Amino acid sequence: MAATPLAPTARAVRTVAFVEGVRTPFGKAGDKGIYANTRADDLVVKVIRELLRRHPELPPERVDDVAIAATTQTGDQGLTIGRTAALLAGLPRSVPGYAIDRMCAGAMTAVTTVAGGIGFGAYDIAIAGGVEHMGRHPMGEGVDPNPRIVADRLVDPSALVMGQTAENLHDRFPAITKRRADEYAAQSQERYADAVKAGKIGPELVPVAIRSELGWGLATEDEPPRPGTTVETLANLKTPFRPHGRVTAGNAAGLNDGATGAILADEETARELGLPVAMRMVGYSFAGVDPEVMGVGPVPATEKLLKRTGLSIDDIGLFEINEAFAVQVLAFLDHFGIDQTDPRVNPWGGAIACGHPLASSGVRLMTQLSRQFAEHPEVRYGITTMCIGLGMGGTVIWENPAYDGSDK
Ligand SMILES: CC(C)(COP(=O)(O)OP(=O)(O)OC[C@H]1O[C@@H](n2cnc3c(N)ncnc32)[C@H](O)[C@@H]1OP(=O)(O)O)[C@@H](O)C(=O)NCCC(=O)NCCS
Repeated sequence: MAATPLAPTARAVRTVAFVEGVRTPFGKAGDKGIYANTRADDLVVKVIRELLRRHPELPPERVDDVAIAATTQTGDQGLTIGRTAALLAGLPRSVPGYAIDRMCAGAMTAVTTVAGGIGFGAYDIAIAGGVEHMGRHPMGEGVDPNPRIVADRLVDPSALVMGQTAENLHDRFPAITKRRADEYAAQSQERYADAVKAGKIGPELVPVAIRSELGWGLATEDEPPRPGTTVETLANLKTPFRPHGRVTAGNAAGLNDGATGAILADEETARELGLPVAMRMVGYSFAGVDPEVMGVGPVPATEKLLKRTGLSIDDIGLFEINEAFAVQVLAFLDHFGIDQTDPRVNPWGGAIACGHPLASSGVRLMTQLSRQFAEHPEVRYGITTMCIGLGMGGTVIWENPAYDGSDK
């Protein structure tokens, strides 16, 4: 009997398209934050519903999977949040879902994981995103590190406190002074404020109904930014992670609540359905570094990916780097010989201004890059990259479908 031939989509290598990303406004974690009385899973539901609302051309039953990341997977961030959020968002019960964790790179890993499925031919369309309600789930909640990790000095104890890893990074790269970190932080706040004023940040936000003692309200904008921040106002802030240290509340991302999500699709399927293609994935890479200097992770992740793709850093026209800490962005820029005021880097500011709800941030970077691509047809390739707790970095290179063939 003749063997049945495989369908052409089985084990296919296909182009992965980023269709669109959205996010909730980001809030400040804590009793006074905008999401103090909002569940984490409800933030994800808002995001999924918004993606479907914006794309009526996408039949919801065509979504092959929903991957949602959270660092702390318990309570309203537990119970396989990709599945529960999909059900709550009204996706057909036939659409499955799952949960992902790679700490700060959770949403990035959700995207790369579903992209692997799309490229391989297991999926045509997927939703990927992340959430972190750091108010309801403070960093480190419920962790129980194996004693051998710390007691046997497998890693330095500072590796478990992200702010201390940032101080360690300042030690490793003495050229990155506190002054440079503060200058970078003030620039992030200023660029973010300019981007909001110019209407560049805003279209990707989905308003969220919120409740406080004043009654019901609507969250329509990010809560963490501190416009008007200057190097002088940053100079004398406390250094909570080390006496006379360099890392402050002003040159670090804060503790935040928020959710993000994006539609990823096989490019041909996207075209068939009439879904827009905002970016094409070129490749992705994750790499490990010493956990006590986790902030340097984006360097080997990017080096590895450049090598794999045959591109050089000079081919990259736009960079979206997660700003967990200013020092960690500066370590990346110094490594690649890029000036810290370079307009290609975080042109709309970054997490120091808008916030970093851990597992959600990767899709914020991608969403912003996709919108910048539309404005920059002269740019062919862009990077999203971030550092990850316990000593990792993740990088994704994207191609601009609007590239007009001119330089960069
Ligand atoms: C740094 C950190 C400990 C600060 O937490 P916090 O003390 O609750 O932060 P606050 O927002 O209250 O800021 C502390 C002070 O700095 C001030 N401040 C913060 N940003 C400022 C700015 N841009 N300009 C001027 N002052 C600023 C605040 O007004 C506050 O002043 P006060 O003490 O007089 O009230 C916390 O944000 C943190 O842990 N960040 C890192 C998060 C992290 O590790 N993420 C994972 C990355 S891998």
